[in-house]
Amino acid sequence: MKLILLGAPGAGKGTQAEIISKELNIPTISTGDMIREALKSGTEMGLKAKSYMESGALVPDEVVIGIVKDRIALDDCKNGFILDGFPRTIPQAEALDSMGVDIDLVLDIEVKDEVIVKRMSGRRVCEKCGKTYHTESKPSKIEGVCDVCTGALIQRKDDQIETVKTRLETYHKETEPLKDYYDAQGKLKIVVGKDTIEATKELVMAALK
Ligand code: AP5
Repeated sequence: MKLILLGAPGAGKGTQAEIISKELNIPTISTGDMIREALKSGTEMGLKAKSYMESGALVPDEVVIGIVKDRIALDDCKNGFILDGFPRTIPQAEALDSMGVDIDLVLDIEVKDEVIVKRMSGRRVCEKCGKTYHTESKPSKIEGVCDVCTGALIQRKDDQIETVKTRLETYHKETEPLKDYYDAQGKLKIVVGKDTIEATKELVMAALK
């Protein structure tokens, strides 16, 4: 299955992608994770993306389109993949179409802005492996320590409240129009995100059938 997860920042795309990836045994391609990785390694692309990302703006289309094109050409994507955080603009969606990628389903996880603003303050990520936690809804076993690799859990720079608000504005302006784009292709399904990961998972798995 070739699946796109749409939704506002913090809607739970990454969390659900991790679950679906295990269930269907297909990789998740997260442009956000790939950019953060490039930033950590200090590559040219990472340095270019830094200021956009930290201010809550989108990284230029040509940068992300290039990294996705290279990634989906790899062997592990042959049986399908989950795109988490891509496309995020109409030109990115058009680029995906012109790569000849036939998407099966676009799942939009809908969560209200006010819930997101509250939720983001509790998100913690492992600075070593990138695994995501939440202080209330998905706590680590030991506070501040990653269950998987024992790395330190930190707050993402772009999870500061003012940046979250900018990211939400960017989402409504640049990314939300993709709902109409994929609805017109008959590929859109909407899941209303619940206030637990498990309850949202039930709806997501039902939508995949
Ligand atoms: P990216 O990393 O993709 O950020 P995002 O889309 O803003 O999404 P998030 O990772 O913030 O949230 P999520 O929906 O995955 O939620 P999560 O599962 O973590 O992008 C970051 C930046 O990179 C962008 O701003 C941009 O600059 C750049 N970028 C990336 N892709 C780009 C592109 N294509 N084009 C241009 N620029 C691009 O959940 C959030 C929290 O809530 C977690 O703590 C989780 O544990 C918790 N949680 C999840 N679900 C629930 C639930 N149902 N109930 C309670 N808590 C929950």
